[in-house]
Amino acid sequence: MSVRRLAEDQVQPDSFKYTRENASWAKKKLKDYPKGRQASAVIPLLMRAQEQDGWVTKAAIEHVAKMLDMPLIRVLEVATFYTQFQLAPVGKRAHIQVCGTTPCMLRGAGDIMDVCKKRIAPAPFELSEDGNLSWEEVECQGACVNAPMVMIFKDSYEDLTPERMEEIIDAFDAGKGEGVPVGPQIDRVFSAPIGGLTSLTEAPGKRAANGNARKAAKPAAAKKAAPAKKSAVKKPVAKGNIGARAAALAGAGTVKAATKKTAVKKAPAKKAAAKVNAADKGRPVAMKKPKAPDDLKLISGVGPKLEGVLNGLGIYKFEQVAKWKKAEREWVDGYLKFKGRIDRDDWVKQAKALAKGGEAEYIKVFGKKPR
Ligand code: FES
Repeated sequence: MSVRRLAEDQVQPDSFKYTRENASWAKKKLKDYPKGRQASAVIPLLMRAQEQDGWVTKAAIEHVAKMLDMPLIRVLEVATFYTQFQLAPVGKRAHIQVCGTTPCMLRGAGDIMDVCKKRIAPAPFELSEDGNLSWEEVECQGACVNAPMVMIFKDSYEDLTPERMEEIIDAFDAGKGEGVPVGPQIDRVFSAPIGGLTSLTEAPGKRAANGNARKAAKPAAAKKAAPAKKSAVKKPVAKGNIGARAAALAGAGTVKAATKKTAVKKAPAKKAAAKVNAADKGRPVAMKKPKAPDDLKLISGVGPKLEGVLNGLGIYKFEQVAKWKKAEREWVDGYLKFKGRIDRDDWVKQAKALAKGGEAEYIKVFGKKPR
């Protein structure tokens, strides 16, 4: 466990002030909490201070304590407990938090730390010579299935090898960290099995339909099962609690399971189906792997890794991508955390050309060969 103390006095600024924009954000934030519960805003306020200055200064802690009318020690406790808060200046372009807990250690976290020592600085929290990079060891980040992994600011990079870690460091050092895909660095969708799903492989719509059909066919059995699952029925897993990753992946999993449980107790089948389908709204229609899948890598912006991810979603043919409407593009964009890249690279136009006439049509449309 890392020892977490405030930085030396000589690096601490004398005062802290939110920028105008952040101050008005903070004021608005406080209204999210009931009267008398404003202390609950301590984490978002500290995080905003860190985003503003790059780290959490002693002055910022004092400022937040004053704003929230909290004893200083309470805010100090929060800031020093969570490793998300940096208590000293860190790399401007990347601060790499290497998970050093058992599963990651067993899967090579030591080698990842060696890369950081070699490429950044021998000791944790030491800045690289140009001040762009720093690193530290942290405890489990909750992505053990994809060990070893690191966090860089708010994103995780998983299934790492020393070579891949070096590439990621290169990208951040060059100011191109935005272009590094987050999550697994191998052909794996989130934390699904390597090589694709082994269960729940039917298209989501079909699964929902099957589920409802089963319910309709066996109402008595469903009712009977309800008491045994009472606690689950009372506290269904809310989509928001699962997080974006699970929600996206579980077009299949837990979200639906939870929704179904609720349905057993009180919601009519139609309502349950609507909830189930809402989780998948915009998800492109999947197909089974055809004998001759298209080479999706011909679409500029799709590399081998992305092709694997798309295949994992049941996307194998240009004609599938060519049919994507706004909803599908937004769903996939969000799923891949692309921030609009699908539209920027115009995957649909590219796929239309490739589906219509292969490379020849692509050259006709774009005046160049596909990548
Ligand atoms: S042990 Fe590394 S993420 Fe859990």
